[in-house]
Amino acid sequence: MLDCSALVNCPNEWAGKIERVIFTETQIEKRVKEMALQISKDYEGKPLVAVGILTGAVVFMTSLLKYFLVPYKLDFMMVSSYASKSTKSSGSVVLKKDLGHDPAGKHILIIEDLIDTGGTLTWLRSYLMSKKCASVKLCTLLDKKERRTAEDIVVDYVGFSCPDKFVVGYGMDFDEQYRCLPFVGCLKPEAYQ
Ligand code: IMP
Ligand code: MG
Repeated sequence: MLDCSALVNCPNEWAGKIERVIFTETQIEKRVKEMALQISKDYEGKPLVAVGILTGAVVFMTSLLKYFLVPYKLDFMMVSSYASKSTKSSGSVVLKKDLGHDPAGKHILIIEDLIDTGGTLTWLRSYLMSKKCASVKLCTLLDKKERRTAEDIVVDYVGFSCPDKFVVGYGMDFDEQYRCLPFVGCLKPEAYQ
């Protein structure tokens, strides 16, 4: 059943394409705050660099950082494993934007919107470890565990387990659309097929 109250801030043109709201703005904000408090405890006294993975993680990242109780520096990377207008990962990761600062000796927290196969995070973690960081941890809003193919991937902070559906909103897109929706929802199949 579609939760219409969650669609208040959704452009009409997009509302008709949402099959279901999976996580409401209220649920996400509550969980994000809990995650930020846990992360703040874990990083007390450590020089933290929060690295957002463009573009999907931006909304989640800005929400999370509002609640951090430890100092941090910000940086961004952009990688791509999706072809345009596709809902499937191509499997190979391409680095499109590297860090702006040398991460050597720093504690890096990678902030992602969603882990699917785990290919992107496996690649990012080994790339960053090769730069001699003090530590590399992973934080994601959503985890589609069922779809994992990468082995040995430990995700340190997870917002929610996500059903095996292509999702949009809260930063996540299909073909660069739907990113600004304040909830996470799944699309009707006709919207992406
Ligand atoms: P992975 O490498 O297969 O784990 O894919 C991770 C990246 O693919 C995520 O960071 C997302 O940007 C993107 N992605 C995977 N599933 C979805 C989805 O359902 N909606 C939007 N983006 C997705
Ligand atoms: Mg992403």
